[in-house]
Amino acid sequence: MCLTYHSDDSSYKIVGRGPIKCTVVLGAVGTFCYVSRVNTTATTPIRARIAAVGAYVPPRRMTNVDLSRIVDTSDEWISSHTGIRNRHIAEDDQAASDLALPASRQALERAGLNPEDIDLILVATSTPDYPGLPSTASVLQHKLEVPAAGAMDVVAACSGFIYALETARTYVVAGAARHVLVVGTEVYSRIVDWTDRSSCVLFGDGAGAVIVSASDNPDDPGEILPAILGSRGAGAEALYRSHGGTRNPYVPGQTRESDLKLKMDGRKVYNFAVAIVGQVISELLDRQGLRFQMLDWVVPHQANIRIIEAVAKRNGWDVERFYRNISEYANTSAASIPIALNEMVEKEILKRGMRILTVGFGAGLSWGGHLISW
Ligand code: UT7
Repeated sequence: MCLTYHSDDSSYKIVGRGPIKCTVVLGAVGTFCYVSRVNTTATTPIRARIAAVGAYVPPRRMTNVDLSRIVDTSDEWISSHTGIRNRHIAEDDQAASDLALPASRQALERAGLNPEDIDLILVATSTPDYPGLPSTASVLQHKLEVPAAGAMDVVAACSGFIYALETARTYVVAGAARHVLVVGTEVYSRIVDWTDRSSCVLFGDGAGAVIVSASDNPDDPGEILPAILGSRGAGAEALYRSHGGTRNPYVPGQTRESDLKLKMDGRKVYNFAVAIVGQVISELLDRQGLRFQMLDWVVPHQANIRIIEAVAKRNGWDVERFYRNISEYANTSAASIPIALNEMVEKEILKRGMRILTVGFGAGLSWGGHLISW
């Protein structure tokens, strides 16, 4: 019995018979992973599929008009420049794990799983409960009462959900996990500078979760195909928090409060986003020999409706295929894609058998996308 890697379709296959309870080498020499959950006698390749989705958005709603009472802005400017009309704001006692919890419970219930079925928890967030340690994933593991599962955060800002989903996919196809909980959860209302009208109007709070499960049954619907991931760190200061980390530590009495908050070069991020979103979509389609018309939906990171419209126009793609819900939630960073997926499932416009493409981008600068047969 052994696990072999097939470079033609980037999959791992279990070869031989008998229950697996063995040590396998994954990736770089010296990286080991103990496979204890997978128990199969089949030789069929393991596929990773999204078994269920859930979301939670805090009920407190802030309209553009509400915002115009705090900063010098207007409903007209925000909606015409971004497509945003509302955003939802967490209560003062709600941290990232508190938003993640109901989203995760909903996904677990819909997947028909119990907490003890989860092998690994991945939380994509750039607004963690605590700065750096412990991980929000560990806090969530305790709240969910998942017994002793692996838990870690994935920090890739607004691309975080795509990065975490790809990590889950590779664990599952490698046979290292059977069910992975992937959550995007953000409380940007805590890190935006509420005096900076060019950025504070753009963001909102929320969480979305998916369960990525192993399947060796070819009749099971849905498969996540290998992602495109990328980053261009030269653009790190286009969207960042300049102080409070190890580069520029917080110094009481010296560090300005605004330097602890999010700073953004909006024009730079906009130009990057319009170029990279089109590139990711084209590359994912080319890999599979597909045309844009063969997609049922594109589910893009919701940052600005004008970015989505510009991508569609520039590439001659039907903008109606791009799911857009930014008007209600604004930019919820790593949570925006799973919140959108959940909404689409609940509206019954995303159904089993459909072919969708997800694409994210953001601080890093980073990007990524997946083709998924739902
Ligand atoms: O997840 C990734 C996160 N970030 C993004 O995706 C951001 C990408 N960038 C953008 O979406 C756009 O660049 C923004 C929405 C941030 C800005 O739109 P823009 O059309 O590039 O506006 P601008 O920055 O060029 O500003 C135009 C004007 C300026 O006034 P002046 O200098 O022309 O008099 C700004 O001061 O609009 C003014 N302005 C505002 N006015 C009212 C900027 N923000 C506001 C505001 N309300 N909230």
